[in-house]
Amino acid sequence: MAATLDTIVSLAKRRGFIFPSSEIYGGLGAVYDYGPLGVELKRNVRERWWRAMVHEHEDVVGLDSAILMHPTVWKASGHVDAFNDPMIDDKQSNKRYRADQLIEGHIAKLEKKKKTQEAERVHAALVEALNADDPSSALHALILAEEIRAPESGAFDWTEVRQFNLMFETKVGAVGGDTIYLRPETAQGIFVHFGNVQQTSRQQVPFGIAQIGKAFRNEVVARQFIFRMREFEQMEMQYFVAPGSQMEHYAEWAEKRMNWHMSNGIRPSRLRWHDHEKLAHYADAAKDVQYEYPFGWQEIEGIHSRTDFDLSRHQEFSGKKLEYFDPQTKERYIPYVVETSVGLDRTILMLLCDAFHEEEVPTAKEGKTESRSVLRFHPSIAPYQVAVFPLVKKDGMDDKAKAIAADLRGGLNVFYDEKGAVGRRYRRQDEIGTPFAVTVDGDTMEDGTVTIRSRDTMEQDRIPAENIAAYVKDATAA
Ligand code: GAP
Repeated sequence: MAATLDTIVSLAKRRGFIFPSSEIYGGLGAVYDYGPLGVELKRNVRERWWRAMVHEHEDVVGLDSAILMHPTVWKASGHVDAFNDPMIDDKQSNKRYRADQLIEGHIAKLEKKKKTQEAERVHAALVEALNADDPSSALHALILAEEIRAPESGAFDWTEVRQFNLMFETKVGAVGGDTIYLRPETAQGIFVHFGNVQQTSRQQVPFGIAQIGKAFRNEVVARQFIFRMREFEQMEMQYFVAPGSQMEHYAEWAEKRMNWHMSNGIRPSRLRWHDHEKLAHYADAAKDVQYEYPFGWQEIEGIHSRTDFDLSRHQEFSGKKLEYFDPQTKERYIPYVVETSVGLDRTILMLLCDAFHEEEVPTAKEGKTESRSVLRFHPSIAPYQVAVFPLVKKDGMDDKAKAIAADLRGGLNVFYDEKGAVGRRYRRQDEIGTPFAVTVDGDTMEDGTVTIRSRDTMEQDRIPAENIAAYVKDATAA
C-alpha cells in the first residue's frame, strides 16, 4: 500500500524522525526539527551527496559560507526586488493578510463547518491551488468564496493581490544597525567567492563549487510537512564553464543528478523530468527533477543553466573583477554557470515516502499472517545499519550481544535491544528501516555463530560473528 502524507507524518513523529519545532508551545508554522533517527538519515544523505559531488569529481571543491551576508549581495542577486509572494489587504478592517494565513484559516473553517456543497467546492479549489503551488489561484478562489458567502454584509473588501518579500530580515549589532537577511539560498555564497576559491584551489574552468547549508524563506504557502519549510537545507553546486559550452555541461549534470536519486534506491517510476517552459530572464535552460509525492508530482531538484548573470551582477555591484583568464586560449571572460540545487528536507520526505511499505507477512504460526510496516531504505541511508539482540537475557547471551554490538560500532551505527519478544524487536527495526538484525542465541555460545536477518526478505543466514561487519558493509557499499 502506498503511503499517505498523514501516515508518514505520524510515523516520523512516533519513531523520532521529525518533530514540529517548539512543539510544547504549539509549534511554529513550517519549521521542523529532526529527532534521533532523522538526524542520522540526514547525515547519511549529506554524506552521499558530498561523496558523489565533491570526492568523486576532481574538478569540484567544497565551500561552507555564512548564512549572513552583506546586504548588497541580495540586491545584486535580484532577491530584494523579485523574490516575492502574494499578500492582500481587507479595506474594511484595514487588516493585512498573508495569503498563507488567510487561506489556511479559511481551509480550517471549511473543514469544521457542516459541509455544504459550496463549502466543499471552495475547499477543494483552495487545496488544489495550494498543492499546485499556486497561491494566486488559491487567493482568487478564496476571494470568490468570500463574495459568495457574504455578498450583502460587505464584510470583506479586498485590495488587489500584492507581493511580499520572502527573505527574513534581521539587524546587525545594536539598535539602529543595518538590515540584513537570512540567506534564501546557499548559491550566492558560492558566486561571491568564485575568485577566492578558483585561485586558492588552482582549479581551471570548467570546475565546480559545492555547498550544503541552511536557507530561509518566509514562505507564504507553507503546507505539506517538510516539503515547504521556512528554514530548510539545500545542497547546491555551481559549475563554472566557458561561454558556449554550457549546454553540454547542463546535459551531463542533469544525467548525473537523476542517477544519484536512483542510486539512493528511489523507484525510477516515481521520478521524472519537468522542463521549464517559461525561463527566468537570465537562464537559457532549466529543468526540475520531480518525484511523485502522496500529494502529486513536485519538484525535488532544479538544474539551471544561468548564463553569466550571477557573476556579472556581482561584478557590477561590487566593482570587483570576477573574470577568468584562460591560460590556453589567453582569453578573459566571465564564466557561465550550470547549477544543480536539491533540497535536503525534500529528499528526506521523498526517501520516507518511497521506502514506506505496509504488507501482510507470514507469522510463525502455519497459515497465519500479520501486517508489518517497513521502511526499505538503501542500507547506506538507513539510520542504523544493523541491530543486535540477545535471544533471551540470560546464559551470557546479553553480554555476548553487547560485546558484538560494541565491536561493530567501530564502523557502523548499531542499535542494541534486549527488551520484549524477538519477533517484536524485528518489527520495530523494520519500521525504522534497519536493514539487518543479528541475534545471539544458544548456538552462539557454543560455536560463535549468529543469525542475521534481512529486513526485506525476512530470511535468516547463520554466519560467524566475526563476519557480520563484512556482510553488512558488502550490502551497504552498493
Ligand atoms: N539556487 C537555486 C535555488 O535556490 P530553488 O528552486 O528556489 O532554486 C532549490 O530551490 C531547491 O531547494 C528546490 O528544488 C527544493 O528542493 C528546495 N527548496 C526550495 N524552497 C524550499 C522550502 N521552502 N522548503 C524546503 N525545500 C525547499
